[in-house]
Amino acid sequence: MALFARKPLELLLEEMKGEHRLRRILGPIQLTSLGIGAIIGAGIFVATGAAAHNVGGPALMLSYTVAGITCVFAALCYAEFASMVPVAGSAYTYAYATLGELFAWIIGWDLVLEYAVGSATVATGWSGYFQNVLAKLNIVLPKAVQVSPWRFNNGHLESTGAFMNLPAVVIVTILTIVLVKGIHESANFNATMVAIKVVAVIFVIIVGAFYIDPANWHPFAPYGWTGLNFFGIQIAGQHNAGGQPVGMLAGAAIIFFAYIGFDSVSTHTEEARNPQRDVPIGIVTSLIVCTVLYIAVVAVLTGMVKYDSLDINAPVSLAFKQKGIGWAEAIIACAGVAGITSVMLVMMLSAPRVFLAMARDGLVSRKFFGDVHPKFRTPWKSTILIGSFVILMSGFLPLDFLLLLTNIGTLFAFVIVCTAVLIMRKKYPDAERPFRCPWVPFVPIMGVLCCLMLMFSLPWENWWRLFAWMAIGLVIYFAYGRKHSVMTVNLSREIAEHGAGGAYVSGTHETAPPA
Ligand code: ALA
Repeated sequence: MALFARKPLELLLEEMKGEHRLRRILGPIQLTSLGIGAIIGAGIFVATGAAAHNVGGPALMLSYTVAGITCVFAALCYAEFASMVPVAGSAYTYAYATLGELFAWIIGWDLVLEYAVGSATVATGWSGYFQNVLAKLNIVLPKAVQVSPWRFNNGHLESTGAFMNLPAVVIVTILTIVLVKGIHESANFNATMVAIKVVAVIFVIIVGAFYIDPANWHPFAPYGWTGLNFFGIQIAGQHNAGGQPVGMLAGAAIIFFAYIGFDSVSTHTEEARNPQRDVPIGIVTSLIVCTVLYIAVVAVLTGMVKYDSLDINAPVSLAFKQKGIGWAEAIIACAGVAGITSVMLVMMLSAPRVFLAMARDGLVSRKFFGDVHPKFRTPWKSTILIGSFVILMSGFLPLDFLLLLTNIGTLFAFVIVCTAVLIMRKKYPDAERPFRCPWVPFVPIMGVLCCLMLMFSLPWENWWRLFAWMAIGLVIYFAYGRKHSVMTVNLSREIAEHGAGGAYVSGTHETAPPA
């Protein structure tokens, strides 16, 4: 069936020859640095506050460990795919080559959710830190434009009395213009951003360590150790007044956001000097470095300030203010703004590129999403469309609403990638795999199980939001993508010419990856 037609690997590799090959210049250190640059952002600088305050308490240290391990399982699967299909396009392309068109669509549509809603989340977090910097300069914005008109209270949206989150809208507008004009991702720029972030985080750990009062770590897990629910039915642990799970696991499901971005290392496979060795090293090292830093930051923060006194908008810098270390607060707030901006840039850059890959395959309008600006050489129309979408979301929706939606979408993508590794190992055991995920099937199965566990530790309404997003996607696929798919058009032509045994027909003549 055309629905499950796969894009043969040979075809993918062939297509790449027509494009500019990227130079193989990145070694393990640069790849690790790219990963850290895409990972450290609003998650640790912002989400940690609300997660410790309302959901995890000091046990959030363990939540970061659980989420980090889950990501390592998924990362190893990503790395295997990145080495098998070493072309741009990330998980969307992997799925097209392995699971077929329908799954490719689902994952492509899901990645757009991850990147677009993720950008809005990060923009909202940026706004908190930016206002923190302004406050240091004695500038306070009018209340009406400080935050979104809605706040999330125990699963329900309620009015804040504000009109919109103006700083978020302004930063997204500026970044959209920058992205339309095109940025040349420079290794130096990335290295500077990574240095600022890592130095800021280490600074927090070292300076904050002097202000730890171990009494603040008691109780260690005030909300319990679990927090699992199945569509609203409590399976394990406590729930808050709104019926949402709380506890160490529920905290892991929230701060999982802090790890999103490591997958971007796999998109640099083509530029790696030795992809087989260095891409997995880059992915896993950046994850391990971030995990260690994150756990230390949470230990320091919850040791400095009692978990229920942590600030929700700019917890890291304000913890220093609460301790009367004003100079440190200013440094951290500035580093937070710079660090969070670079993550936003990576995420906003990614969504139009997923659409571009889908447009080349005919699954979305080539005229719109595939239109590359003649002067700037960027997918400008989709960049503006996504930018507008992000402006609306970051201006009017609260951070936790956006963050939870990003998390469930990303966890879902990880489930598909881990499953795809299992399927490929079974179907094509002898295909060339420059990097082999270790301990298969243990690692992919654990990846699927851990991601599902975290999905069921999120407030269950997020499942409906994910289903709604996917339903919209499927309507578009069946109304447009399926009919215009290059694979389907080729398939129909082939059937007309040679009967129903053509190369694109999944299940009749499958094209194995090159052995
Ligand atoms: N991991 C990224 C952040 O925390 C998305 O901002």
